[in-house]
Amino acid sequence: MTHDLVIHGGTLVTASGTFTADIGIKDGRIATLGSDLDGKDRIDATGKLVMPGGIESHCHIAQESSTGMMTADDYRTGSVSAAFGGNTTIIPFAAQLKGQPIQDVIQVYDERASVSVLDFSYHLIVTDTSVDGFQDQMQAAFDRGVTSFKVFLTYDIALTDEQFLDVLDAARRAGALTMVHAENNALINWMRRRMGDGGYVDPKYHAPSRPVASEVEAIHRAVQLSSFVDAPLLIVHVSTPEGMAEIAKARLAGAPIYAETCPQYLFLKAEDLDRPDGTKFICSPPLRDKATQDALWRGLQTGVFDLYSSDHAPYRNDETGKLSKGGSDFRAVANGMPGIELRAPLLFSEGVVKGRITLPQFVQYTSANAARLFGLSGRKGTLAIGADADLAIWDPTAEWTVSHDQMHDNMDYSPFEGRQMTGGPETIIQRGNILVQNGELHATPGDGQFLRREKFDRTNAAGIKPAEMDPARNFGAEIT
Ligand code: URP
Ligand code: ZN
Ligand code: ZN
Repeated sequence: MTHDLVIHGGTLVTASGTFTADIGIKDGRIATLGSDLDGKDRIDATGKLVMPGGIESHCHIAQESSTGMMTADDYRTGSVSAAFGGNTTIIPFAAQLKGQPIQDVIQVYDERASVSVLDFSYHLIVTDTSVDGFQDQMQAAFDRGVTSFKVFLTYDIALTDEQFLDVLDAARRAGALTMVHAENNALINWMRRRMGDGGYVDPKYHAPSRPVASEVEAIHRAVQLSSFVDAPLLIVHVSTPEGMAEIAKARLAGAPIYAETCPQYLFLKAEDLDRPDGTKFICSPPLRDKATQDALWRGLQTGVFDLYSSDHAPYRNDETGKLSKGGSDFRAVANGMPGIELRAPLLFSEGVVKGRITLPQFVQYTSANAARLFGLSGRKGTLAIGADADLAIWDPTAEWTVSHDQMHDNMDYSPFEGRQMTGGPETIIQRGNILVQNGELHATPGDGQFLRREKFDRTNAAGIKPAEMDPARNFGAEIT
């Protein structure tokens, strides 16, 4: 067979191992893995690593925050920045405004995403379960291929536990995965009030205002509620060893609980909030300490975590962004920081190069596990025959220094400025088309395609109703 493109001589890395082979691409898919393949075009990958393109499955792009602030990145800048960071797929959020019908939410984001250079989908953020026909609307979003829903237990968009149960139940019926931002809202509000009363409002007070206990309590509650209705649950941006322990315990008990952590919790610390530019480091959950970083690495090493995502939430550190509502008073600063372009390079440099994780683990955390959890198995996150030819060719030895000037997002800073890095993505290929090569973008806004995702693949849960939900045992009445 004459292929459209052959990637020759590279070391291929998948979630299960590494091997040397050529990749033959035809009609946008991987057609052959072998040696001495024929192709109309050829890329020499000798000395390079050839991996599945990254899947960034937690990023906020062209999305209003909980207080209504629009992110600095739209789908063009966000996806271009993601591509330069080794990604070929993004799954940002489509956020429901209070009272907004869910079909309208999807329509709004279809419009916003029309300039994406990368393939994309959305997780639906649910903030209002009281809209007419809520359960049917959730089913309609699911049928459209949006097979993951997200809820918040904090901020002004927090759901009550009862509303959270409604979402979990709708997701379980449809076959969707629910994601949760787990922090105890009452504890945070109580701390913010006390700190405000005492005049403790500098950025450094953001961390103690959202203490470890607030994450642990909310994770514990979320695990109990989701287990009660037998619904799979992904706890996003876990930032504490104690929260991680709740998750490990639930998994050992057989609950379908999944977990994610993020670069900021591995590479930054609460003391960064005490810098003169401390507002750059305000995100939630907040940054913690060195002992936490060590524990989170162990979570990645031992598989407590399934995902490692940027939580890219780009608000500029100026009057158009973080400082627009109340200066540096931490209670008014938009939460979140950018990181979509550095997510994978940081994990490679600090994880693979420093021997903390293996190359297959790197692929698990940057693409393969996201494909498995978010209904893209066989299509994305793998180098299998028949999969989309989404590839990232990495130079494992490149030495460079993080400088925001070199980055492609629409931000005015990087929280990782000045870091020394080893290894980085060089050539990015999406469905057989070269997107990035020699530092140049070869894509047009709109090249990305919407991905209809499959339902959540529930391979490790029995699918039976737990005892408390069994009407024969408890009520003698049918509960659906
Ligand atoms: O501080 C953060 N993480 N902001 C983004 C929104 C969220 O909470 O995920
Ligand atoms: Zn969150
Ligand atoms: Zn987020």
